[in-house]
Amino acid sequence: MLVGVSQRLTEVTSFLAEILTPRAPLTVIVDGGDHGAAARFASCLAAAFPPSARAWKVDAVLGLTGPSGGVLDSAMNVLEPATDRVIVYLRSGARGPAGEGERRAQVVIDNNDPQWPVIRELHPRLAGPERWHLAESQAFFAPRAAGWDEKFGDDLPAYARAVAAAGPAPGEVALDVGCGTGRALPALVAAVGPTGQVIGIDCTHDMLAQARARGRDRGAALVRADASHLPLADATADVVFAAGLVHHLPDPAAGLTELGRVTRPGGRLVLFHPTGRAALAARHGRELRPDEPLNEDNLRPLLTGAGWALSSYEDDDNRFLAIAVRTGSTG
Ligand SMILES: C[S@@+](CC[C@H](N)C(=O)[O-])C[C@H]1O[C@@H](n2cnc3c(N)ncnc32)[C@H](O)[C@@H]1O
Repeated sequence: MLVGVSQRLTEVTSFLAEILTPRAPLTVIVDGGDHGAAARFASCLAAAFPPSARAWKVDAVLGLTGPSGGVLDSAMNVLEPATDRVIVYLRSGARGPAGEGERRAQVVIDNNDPQWPVIRELHPRLAGPERWHLAESQAFFAPRAAGWDEKFGDDLPAYARAVAAAGPAPGEVALDVGCGTGRALPALVAAVGPTGQVIGIDCTHDMLAQARARGRDRGAALVRADASHLPLADATADVVFAAGLVHHLPDPAAGLTELGRVTRPGGRLVLFHPTGRAALAARHGRELRPDEPLNEDNLRPLLTGAGWALSSYEDDDNRFLAIAVRTGSTG
């Protein structure tokens, strides 16, 4: 291991080396706004390749001419002269308005903390999401869990209003999938009452630990599980609440189908975010793309294909709220 290299950096670079080695010969370009960080990442990645690949040469940092003709501030890590190339983009700070670097990349890494890089996007031709996505989601959310409510604490009344929009009734079974620190759980517990049941589900241990520490497991069960493979029988739930979850799933269509599987016909699905999509994109320094799954034109057919019918859709600065009813039929 290189001196000063964190366990997380080793995990990420070892994984990338593992999936890239069979593609050799190829050129790996590490790109990013921070020239030094790109060069450091490139040398860790080079060191992670197996002995069979050691003969590959690691060149010095080079300027890379982008498609727009501009010279990008990049590290070029030439493993072997080759026609195939893979661009790894290191994201640090807010994204540029055009997001040009990210768009050209096959691998996007959140490198805001260079000791804790997290893969955020990986082209499916390099590896299917089942190989990396869940572990990287957990790595992304775990360090954010402790500060989550301090950062977004003012949103609690908005969660209560979103829960009310789903109309959970006394005695019903409600799920909060991707519940995080459990901000919707008290409102769900109050709505279904003592004869109902609430289950909060999240894949990140630290998020559920925060929910417990804040007493949000009062009247609710907390379960650690993957939203794409829920440990629940078919038609268990009357209401499924999912705030800020769908765009984190590698395959939103499959995820919505799984949420549908565990919901009884006539049950409701609430997709919520306390900030509208445009405002959220602006907060993250990016532009809304027309192909995003929560865009109404995409969400409606996605839901239909997953056995839901979209019944209302709101997307303004103050919230994103889409409600769907389980039809049971797909297509
Ligand atoms: C943006 S946060 C929202 C948390 C919470 N719903 C809220 O609104 O405060 C997304 C949550 O989804 C969880 N998550 C992401 N992918 C998941 C998956 N495949 N299965 C279960 N939970 C997932 C994360 O751990 C994280 O807690």
